[in-house]
Amino acid sequence: MGETIKIHETAFLTATFRSIDENLSGDCYAKLWHNEQTDLWIKDYLKSVSTEEPYCHCLRNRYFLDQIKKSINQNNIEVLINFGAGFSMYPFLLNEKLIHIEIDKPEIVKHKKQKIEEWQNKSLLPKREIHFIGVDFNEDYQTKLISKITAIKKNKRCFILIEGVLFFLGKKETISLFNLFNSLQNKGDLIGSVSFQNAVSKTIAFKKMLAFLAKKLTKDQAFDYQLIANEFYQNIENYKLTDQQDFFSLSKKYKHQTTLSKDEILNETMYLLEKI
Ligand SMILES: C[S@@+](CC[C@H](N)C(=O)[O-])C[C@H]1O[C@@H](n2cnc3c(N)ncnc32)[C@H](O)[C@@H]1O
Repeated sequence: MGETIKIHETAFLTATFRSIDENLSGDCYAKLWHNEQTDLWIKDYLKSVSTEEPYCHCLRNRYFLDQIKKSINQNNIEVLINFGAGFSMYPFLLNEKLIHIEIDKPEIVKHKKQKIEEWQNKSLLPKREIHFIGVDFNEDYQTKLISKITAIKKNKRCFILIEGVLFFLGKKETISLFNLFNSLQNKGDLIGSVSFQNAVSKTIAFKKMLAFLAKKLTKDQAFDYQLIANEFYQNIENYKLTDQQDFFSLSKKYKHQTTLSKDEILNETMYLLEKI
Protein backbone atom coordinates (compact mmCIF):
# COMPACT_ATOMS: atom_id res chain seq x y z
CA MET A 1 0.00 0.00 0.00
CA GLY A 2 1.26 3.46 -0.89
CA GLU A 3 2.82 5.59 1.82
CA THR A 4 0.32 8.37 1.06
CA ILE A 5 -2.40 6.66 3.13
CA LYS A 6 -2.59 8.05 6.66
CA ILE A 7 -3.65 4.83 8.32
CA HIS A 8 -3.35 6.29 11.83
CA GLU A 9 -6.49 8.34 11.11
CA THR A 10 -8.37 5.04 10.95
CA ALA A 11 -7.15 4.18 14.47
CA PHE A 12 -8.79 7.37 15.80
CA LEU A 13 -11.99 6.52 13.90
CA THR A 14 -12.11 2.98 15.31
CA ALA A 15 -11.56 4.20 18.89
CA THR A 16 -14.31 6.81 18.61
CA PHE A 17 -16.78 4.37 17.03
CA ARG A 18 -16.33 2.16 20.11
CA SER A 19 -17.24 5.00 22.42
CA ILE A 20 -20.62 5.57 20.70
CA ASP A 21 -22.27 2.61 22.51
CA GLU A 22 -20.18 1.77 25.58
CA ASN A 23 -22.68 -0.85 26.77
CA LEU A 24 -22.33 -2.72 23.51
CA SER A 25 -18.54 -2.36 23.10
CA GLY A 26 -17.79 -2.91 26.79
CA ASP A 27 -15.22 -0.11 26.41
CA CYS A 28 -15.58 2.82 28.82
CA TYR A 29 -12.14 4.24 27.96
CA ALA A 30 -12.37 4.61 24.15
CA LYS A 31 -13.88 8.08 24.62
CA LEU A 32 -10.52 9.38 25.85
CA TRP A 33 -9.35 9.44 22.20
CA HIS A 34 -12.15 11.84 21.27
CA ASN A 35 -11.01 14.89 19.22
CA GLU A 36 -12.69 17.42 16.94
CA GLN A 37 -10.99 16.31 13.72
CA THR A 38 -12.19 12.71 14.22
CA ASP A 39 -15.71 13.95 15.03
CA LEU A 40 -15.84 15.73 11.66
CA TRP A 41 -14.63 12.57 9.92
CA ILE A 42 -17.24 10.47 11.71
CA LYS A 43 -20.05 12.80 10.72
CA ASP A 44 -18.96 12.55 7.10
CA TYR A 45 -18.34 8.77 7.36
CA LEU A 46 -21.80 8.01 8.76
CA LYS A 47 -23.40 10.05 6.00
CA SER A 48 -21.21 8.80 3.13
CA VAL A 49 -20.62 5.13 4.08
CA SER A 50 -22.92 3.50 6.67
CA THR A 51 -24.74 4.64 9.80
CA GLU A 52 -24.23 1.15 11.26
CA GLU A 53 -20.42 1.44 11.36
CA PRO A 54 -20.10 2.45 15.06
CA TYR A 55 -22.08 -0.67 16.07
CA CYS A 56 -19.96 -2.92 13.81
CA HIS A 57 -16.92 -1.72 15.76
CA CYS A 58 -18.65 -1.98 19.14
CA LEU A 59 -19.63 -5.60 18.42
CA ARG A 60 -16.10 -6.47 17.23
CA ASN A 61 -14.55 -5.01 20.39
CA ARG A 62 -17.07 -6.76 22.64
CA TYR A 63 -16.54 -10.11 20.94
CA PHE A 64 -12.76 -10.04 21.36
CA LEU A 65 -12.99 -8.61 24.88
CA ASP A 66 -15.23 -11.53 25.89
CA GLN A 67 -13.08 -14.09 24.07
CA ILE A 68 -9.89 -12.82 25.74
CA LYS A 69 -11.59 -12.87 29.17
CA LYS A 70 -12.73 -16.45 28.53
CA SER A 71 -9.27 -17.53 27.36
CA ILE A 72 -7.63 -16.23 30.55
CA ASN A 73 -9.54 -18.91 32.47
CA GLN A 74 -9.89 -21.65 29.85
CA ASN A 75 -6.46 -21.49 28.17
CA ASN A 76 -4.46 -19.93 31.03
CA ILE A 77 -3.56 -16.95 28.85
CA GLU A 78 -1.11 -14.59 30.58
CA VAL A 79 0.00 -12.34 27.69
CA LEU A 80 -2.05 -10.40 25.11
CA ILE A 81 -0.07 -9.44 21.99
CA ASN A 82 -1.95 -6.92 19.87
CA PHE A 83 -0.59 -6.50 16.31
CA GLY A 84 -1.62 -3.11 14.84
CA ALA A 85 -3.10 -2.25 18.24
CA GLY A 86 -3.86 1.35 17.25
CA PHE A 87 -5.72 3.11 20.07
CA SER A 88 -7.64 0.07 21.35
CA MET A 89 -8.02 -0.02 25.15
CA TYR A 90 -8.10 -3.75 26.01
CA PRO A 91 -5.36 -3.51 28.69
CA PHE A 92 -7.59 -1.34 30.88
CA LEU A 93 -10.69 -3.50 30.39
CA LEU A 94 -8.99 -6.76 31.38
CA ASN A 95 -7.61 -8.24 34.59
CA GLU A 96 -4.59 -6.28 35.83
CA LYS A 97 -2.46 -9.45 35.96
CA LEU A 98 -2.42 -9.76 32.15
CA ILE A 99 0.81 -8.62 30.42
CA HIS A 100 0.34 -6.61 27.21
CA ILE A 101 2.54 -6.24 24.15
CA GLU A 102 1.24 -3.60 21.74
CA ILE A 103 2.79 -3.42 18.29
CA ASP A 104 2.09 -0.75 15.69
CA LYS A 105 3.89 1.80 13.53
CA PRO A 106 6.50 3.72 15.57
CA GLU A 107 4.60 7.05 15.43
CA ILE A 108 1.39 5.37 16.70
CA VAL A 109 3.00 3.58 19.66
CA LYS A 110 4.91 6.76 20.60
CA HIS A 111 1.69 8.80 20.67
CA LYS A 112 -0.28 6.09 22.51
CA LYS A 113 2.42 5.61 25.18
CA GLN A 114 2.57 9.35 25.81
CA LYS A 115 -1.24 9.76 26.05
CA ILE A 116 -1.63 6.71 28.30
CA GLU A 117 1.03 7.99 30.71
CA GLU A 118 -0.67 11.38 30.75
CA TRP A 119 -4.09 9.82 31.50
CA GLN A 120 -2.64 7.50 34.15
CA ASN A 121 -0.99 10.46 35.87
CA LYS A 122 -4.41 12.13 35.99
CA SER A 123 -5.95 8.87 37.32
CA LEU A 124 -8.17 8.61 34.25
CA LEU A 125 -6.75 5.16 33.51
CA PRO A 126 -5.61 2.34 35.81
CA LYS A 127 -1.97 1.17 35.73
CA ARG A 128 -1.16 -1.85 33.58
CA GLU A 129 1.97 -3.66 32.36
CA ILE A 130 2.18 -2.62 28.69
CA HIS A 131 5.22 -3.05 26.42
CA PHE A 132 5.05 -0.91 23.27
CA ILE A 133 6.98 -1.96 20.17
CA GLY A 134 7.18 0.19 17.02
CA VAL A 135 7.30 -1.85 13.79
CA ASP A 136 6.21 -1.52 10.16
CA PHE A 137 4.84 -4.85 8.89
CA ASN A 138 5.88 -3.90 5.35
CA GLU A 139 9.56 -3.87 6.35
CA ASP A 140 12.05 -6.54 7.39
CA TYR A 141 11.17 -6.74 11.08
CA GLN A 142 10.67 -10.42 11.97
CA THR A 143 13.92 -11.49 13.66
CA LYS A 144 14.21 -8.43 15.91
CA LEU A 145 10.50 -8.54 16.81
CA ILE A 146 10.61 -12.24 17.75
CA SER A 147 13.52 -11.66 20.12
CA LYS A 148 11.83 -8.60 21.71
CA ILE A 149 8.55 -10.46 22.22
CA THR A 150 10.25 -13.61 23.52
CA ALA A 151 12.19 -11.59 26.09
CA ILE A 152 8.89 -10.28 27.51
CA LYS A 153 6.61 -13.28 27.05
CA LYS A 154 9.13 -16.01 27.95
CA ASN A 155 7.19 -19.28 27.89
CA LYS A 156 3.85 -17.83 28.99
CA ARG A 157 0.59 -18.63 27.19
CA CYS A 158 -0.48 -15.88 24.76
CA PHE A 159 -3.46 -14.55 22.83
CA ILE A 160 -2.50 -12.77 19.60
CA LEU A 161 -4.96 -10.22 18.27
CA ILE A 162 -4.90 -8.67 14.80
CA GLU A 163 -7.99 -6.57 14.05
CA GLY A 164 -8.57 -3.84 11.49
CA VAL A 165 -5.09 -4.37 10.04
CA LEU A 166 -5.11 -7.07 7.34
CA PHE A 167 -7.26 -4.90 5.04
CA PHE A 168 -4.23 -2.59 4.75
CA LEU A 169 -1.60 -5.30 4.15
CA GLY A 170 -0.65 -7.50 1.18
CA LYS A 171 -0.83 -11.30 1.01
CA LYS A 172 2.94 -11.76 1.41
CA GLU A 173 3.00 -9.60 4.57
CA THR A 174 -0.04 -11.46 5.94
CA ILE A 175 1.53 -14.90 5.45
CA SER A 176 4.72 -13.63 7.02
CA LEU A 177 2.76 -12.43 10.08
CA PHE A 178 0.94 -15.74 10.54
CA ASN A 179 4.29 -17.60 10.24
CA LEU A 180 5.62 -15.31 12.95
CA PHE A 181 2.56 -16.07 15.14
CA ASN A 182 3.28 -19.78 14.72
CA SER A 183 6.88 -19.35 15.81
CA LEU A 184 5.81 -17.38 18.91
CA GLN A 185 2.97 -19.63 20.05
CA ASN A 186 2.63 -23.02 21.75
CA LYS A 187 -0.19 -25.57 21.82
CA GLY A 188 -3.37 -24.04 23.30
CA ASP A 189 -2.39 -20.43 22.44
CA LEU A 190 -4.94 -18.39 20.48
CA ILE A 191 -5.20 -15.96 17.57
CA GLY A 192 -8.10 -13.53 17.03
CA SER A 193 -8.21 -12.07 13.54
CA VAL A 194 -10.53 -9.87 11.47
CA SER A 195 -10.87 -9.46 7.71
CA PHE A 196 -13.31 -8.88 4.88
CA GLN A 197 -14.50 -11.77 2.71
CA ASN A 198 -14.66 -11.37 -1.09
CA ALA A 199 -18.49 -11.15 -1.13
CA VAL A 200 -18.43 -8.00 1.02
CA SER A 201 -16.54 -6.11 -1.70
CA LYS A 202 -19.71 -6.29 -3.85
CA THR A 203 -21.85 -4.41 -1.30
CA ILE A 204 -22.78 -0.74 -1.58
CA ALA A 205 -21.30 -0.04 1.86
CA PHE A 206 -17.88 -1.44 0.87
CA LYS A 207 -17.78 0.59 -2.35
CA LYS A 208 -18.72 3.71 -0.40
CA MET A 209 -16.01 2.97 2.18
CA LEU A 210 -13.36 2.69 -0.57
CA ALA A 211 -14.52 6.01 -2.04
CA PHE A 212 -14.43 7.64 1.42
CA LEU A 213 -10.90 6.41 2.18
CA ALA A 214 -9.70 7.48 -1.28
CA LYS A 215 -11.19 10.95 -0.76
CA LYS A 216 -9.84 11.38 2.77
CA LEU A 217 -6.57 9.50 2.72
CA THR A 218 -5.12 9.18 -0.77
CA LYS A 219 -6.29 12.34 -2.52
CA ASP A 220 -8.78 10.39 -4.64
CA GLN A 221 -6.23 7.80 -5.79
CA ALA A 222 -7.37 4.20 -5.60
CA PHE A 223 -5.36 2.10 -3.14
CA ASP A 224 -4.67 -1.61 -2.66
CA TYR A 225 -6.61 -3.48 -0.04
CA GLN A 226 -6.85 -7.09 0.99
CA LEU A 227 -9.86 -9.44 1.16
CA ILE A 228 -9.40 -12.87 2.75
CA ALA A 229 -11.40 -16.05 2.06
CA ASN A 230 -12.47 -18.45 4.85
CA GLU A 231 -10.15 -21.08 3.32
CA PHE A 232 -7.12 -19.07 4.40
CA TYR A 233 -8.08 -19.51 8.06
CA GLN A 234 -9.24 -23.11 7.58
CA ASN A 235 -5.84 -24.10 6.18
CA ILE A 236 -3.32 -22.44 8.48
CA GLU A 237 -0.80 -25.09 9.42
CA ASN A 238 -0.71 -26.01 13.16
CA TYR A 239 -3.97 -24.17 13.89
CA LYS A 240 -7.64 -25.12 14.07
CA LEU A 241 -10.43 -22.62 13.46
CA THR A 242 -12.52 -22.70 16.64
CA ASP A 243 -14.99 -19.87 16.05
CA GLN A 244 -16.19 -17.56 13.29
CA GLN A 245 -18.57 -14.60 13.65
CA ASP A 246 -19.73 -11.62 11.68
CA PHE A 247 -21.86 -8.52 12.28
CA PHE A 248 -25.10 -10.49 11.95
CA SER A 249 -24.21 -13.37 14.27
CA LEU A 250 -22.77 -10.96 16.86
CA SER A 251 -25.88 -8.77 16.62
CA LYS A 252 -27.94 -11.82 17.63
CA LYS A 253 -25.50 -12.77 20.38
CA TYR A 254 -25.43 -9.28 21.92
CA LYS A 255 -29.06 -8.40 21.08
CA HIS A 256 -28.28 -5.51 18.75
CA GLN A 257 -30.90 -4.54 16.19
CA THR A 258 -30.41 -2.80 12.86
CA THR A 259 -32.87 -1.45 10.32
CA LEU A 260 -30.35 -1.43 7.47
CA SER A 261 -30.19 -4.01 4.68
CA LYS A 262 -27.17 -6.35 4.28
CA ASP A 263 -25.95 -4.23 1.40
CA GLU A 264 -25.63 -1.16 3.62
CA ILE A 265 -23.45 -2.82 6.28
CA LEU A 266 -19.66 -3.23 6.23
CA ASN A 267 -19.68 -6.82 7.36
CA GLU A 268 -16.29 -7.96 8.69
CA THR A 269 -15.63 -11.55 9.72
CA MET A 270 -14.04 -12.37 13.08
CA TYR A 271 -12.01 -15.59 13.44
CA LEU A 272 -10.67 -17.43 16.46
CA LEU A 273 -7.84 -19.94 15.94
CA GLU A 274 -6.17 -22.29 18.41
CA LYS A 275 -2.68 -23.74 18.04
CA ILE A 276 -2.81 -27.55 18.03
C1 LIG B 1 -8.07 0.59 11.70
S1 LIG B 1 -6.73 0.70 12.78
C2 LIG B 1 -7.17 -0.59 13.93
C3 LIG B 1 -6.49 -0.41 15.24
C4 LIG B 1 -6.83 -1.45 16.32
N1 LIG B 1 -6.43 -2.78 15.95
C5 LIG B 1 -8.30 -1.41 16.64
O1 LIG B 1 -9.03 -2.33 16.25
O2 LIG B 1 -8.71 -0.46 17.31
C6 LIG B 1 -5.40 -0.04 11.86
C7 LIG B 1 -4.08 -0.08 12.61
O3 LIG B 1 -3.15 -0.88 11.87
C8 LIG B 1 -1.89 -0.27 11.91
N2 LIG B 1 -1.14 -0.67 10.71
C9 LIG B 1 -1.56 -0.64 9.44
N3 LIG B 1 -0.56 -0.98 8.59
C10 LIG B 1 0.52 -1.25 9.39
C11 LIG B 1 1.86 -1.64 9.12
N4 LIG B 1 2.30 -1.81 7.87
N5 LIG B 1 2.70 -1.83 10.16
C12 LIG B 1 2.26 -1.64 11.44
N6 LIG B 1 1.01 -1.26 11.76
C13 LIG B 1 0.15 -1.05 10.75
C14 LIG B 1 -2.24 1.21 11.87
O4 LIG B 1 -1.16 2.04 12.29
C15 LIG B 1 -3.45 1.30 12.76
O5 LIG B 1 -3.14 1.55 14.11
